[in-house]
Formats: sequence, C-alpha cells, structure tokens
Amino acid sequence: MQINDKSKATAYTALSTRYDTMTYKRSGKSGVLLPAISLGLWHNFGFIDSIQNGRDILRCAFDLGITHFDLANNYGPPYGSAEENFGTIFKKDFKPYRDELFIASKAGYDMWPGPYGNWGSKKYLIASLDQSLKRMGLDYVDVFYHHRPDPDTPLEETMGALADIVRQGKALYVGISNYQPEATQKAAILLKELNVPFILHQARYSMLDRWVENGLLETLNTNGVGCITFSPLAQGLLTDKYLNGIPKGSRAAKSLSYLNKDTVNSNLEKIQKLNTIAQERGQKLSQMAIAWILRQKQVASVLIGASSPNQLQENVKALDNLEFTTEELQRIDKILK
Ligand SMILES: NC(=O)c1ccc[n+]([C@@H]2O[C@H](COP(=O)([O-])OP(=O)(O)OC[C@H]3O[C@@H](n4cnc5c(N)ncnc54)[C@H](OP(=O)(O)O)[C@@H]3O)[C@@H](O)[C@H]2O)c1
Repeated sequence: MQINDKSKATAYTALSTRYDTMTYKRSGKSGVLLPAISLGLWHNFGFIDSIQNGRDILRCAFDLGITHFDLANNYGPPYGSAEENFGTIFKKDFKPYRDELFIASKAGYDMWPGPYGNWGSKKYLIASLDQSLKRMGLDYVDVFYHHRPDPDTPLEETMGALADIVRQGKALYVGISNYQPEATQKAAILLKELNVPFILHQARYSMLDRWVENGLLETLNTNGVGCITFSPLAQGLLTDKYLNGIPKGSRAAKSLSYLNKDTVNSNLEKIQKLNTIAQERGQKLSQMAIAWILRQKQVASVLIGASSPNQLQENVKALDNLEFTTEELQRIDKILK
C-alpha cells in the first residue's frame, strides 16, 4: 500500500490511488455505494483526545478509500466535540473533497438539558441537526439518523421530522439506529408513504452480539434497506489487544464505555479460540471479525473505530480474505454458543 508522506504537513492532498483497492457495496436498493469498511468518530475525536491524531486517522482513512465518516451530536467527550473537531479538520483537509464524502450525523440521546434535547420529537431532531451542521461547517449531511427508538413520541412525528429534514435539504437520505425489527418495519412503511429515501439501519453486530440475525436483517432485506453495523470488534475485544492482559491507554483501561476488566476476562477464552482460527486463515483476529460480518449480504458497510492510523490499515486488510469455508463457520458458531 502507498503511504501518504504528507500526513503531517499542513496541506493535504489525497492519494491518487485511494480508489484502487477499497470495495464499495450498495446500500439496500438505493443508489448509494458505501465502502465495505467505514470510520466512526464516537471515540478518539473529542476534546479529550489529540486532534492531530484524529486528523492523521481521517487522512489515512480517505487515502484507503474510506469515503464514509459517521458522527453523532453526542460524540466526544464532551458532547458535540467530535463534530467540532471534525469540522476543524474538514475545513483544513477535506473541503475540496466534499462531493467524494458521505457524512452522517444522528440525534436521539441526551444532548442538552430540558425537555427538548433528547429522544425523538420533531423539536429536538430539527434543532439538533442545525447545531450539528454548524459544528461541522457543512451545508448538509448525506445521511441523518434517529439514533434510538423513543417509546413515548409517536413514530409518525419522528419519521415526519426526518422527512422535513430531507425536504429542507439538510440531509440527502435518512436512517434509523437501534430499532427492533417490528419498529423498523413500521418506520419503513411511514417513510415510504412520506416518499423519503430510507437507506440505512445502524445496528450493533459482532461475533459477540448477533441480535440482528433474529429478524432485523430479514426486515431490512424485505424493505430494500441497507445495514451498517457498529462495534464489529466489540470495541477492541475481537482483536489481539487483550490476549495478554489490558494494555495502558486501551478502551478497557480507560473504562469510558461498557468495556472493562470483567468483560475482557469473561470473554478471554472465546477470544483465544477465535484467534486460533484467524491465525489458521492467515488473518489477524480483527480482520476475521470484520470479514465474518461482511458475509451477510444485507450489510452494506462495517463501521469501525480506530485509535491510530495503524489500526485502520490493519483492519482494512480484512478485505483481502472474505471467504469462509462451511467448516470454519461451524467452528466459529460452536465457540460463540
Ligand atoms: N448507532 C449507535 O448507537 C452506535 C453505537 C456505538 C458505535 N457507533 C458507531 O460505530 C463506530 C464504531 O464503534 P466502535 O468504536 O465501538 O467499533 P470497534 O471497531 O468495535 O472498536 C474500535 C476500537 O477497537 C480497538 N481497535 C480497532 N482496531 C484495532 C486493531 N487492529 N488492533 C487492536 N485494537 C483495535 C481500538 O480501541 P483502543 O481505543 O483501545 O485502541 C478502537 O478504538 C463508532 O465510532 C460510531 O460511529 C454507533
């Protein structure tokens, strides 16, 4: 792979080879092609992190053909800071490439105090996207998601807000995230009636969390909607990072998310066994974990996180071996049971 030596220089010129090796997959029945691997900015892009490292990761991603960056109003910490940092980097490096990028944001979790900064009301969604656009310095996002289902707001209102956002030109497409199959089906019907392009469902999916296999992927297939899967590496568990303890600076050491010492220890045996299969395949465990998700035809893209350009480079090599034998899949199933 060609390395972009200008990564630390002020002016960024993307590698001319950036589209040579990435695979692009259609999202459901839409016109949108997404890179098989996309980059999420949930961790490592907040004000608590090094913006230069974030900039290096984003440049590396684009040089590898990763055209899709995933954000949300509350990514940081603090909330909003990942979008603000992304905006700073976008202005310096990516403005000339805006039409080559597919940028996402979301709203649905608590963002600001009071009754209008959370869940799924029209009031919240419209105001939140306006704030996100301002932080990122963008005129529009490519896809805007409702981040999680709201048990109290009528689905008609939330989907109506997504439709208004598209009509206002603030998003080209819409998506939902963390919705169960039944609610997804209802959302799909409403969005169809509203004539709004519903192209993506963002769902957690990894070898350690297979809930999407219980109906969601089928529902998406029926409705021609693509699936973009998050936390494919179970936040780092499905890599070789924790095979010999918890390294300093890792997510499990920082305990900024659900990942902690107990989660690592309770999964260690499974991870070691999976690692043996990955080695037999000539892959890193992280690469096998990503390839295993891409075996599902409904998955348009696997959304990874990375704390360094090296991790990104390593993970993208998953695309070199996406085939599994029936025997390998059976052995993996047995370990995961
Ligand atoms: N819609 C939702 O509700 C939702 C929820 C969660 C996430 N997401 C999206 O999905 C994206 C990805 O989620 P995620 O960050 O949990 O994904 P992930 O890919 O499962 O975990 C990423 C973490 O794994 C470690 N890692 C990655 N590659 C590695 C490698 N080759 N070797 C060793 N360690 C490696 C790094 O941890 P260290 O920092 O320890 O190095 C990295 O930060 C998020 O950024 C966000 O955009 C969406």
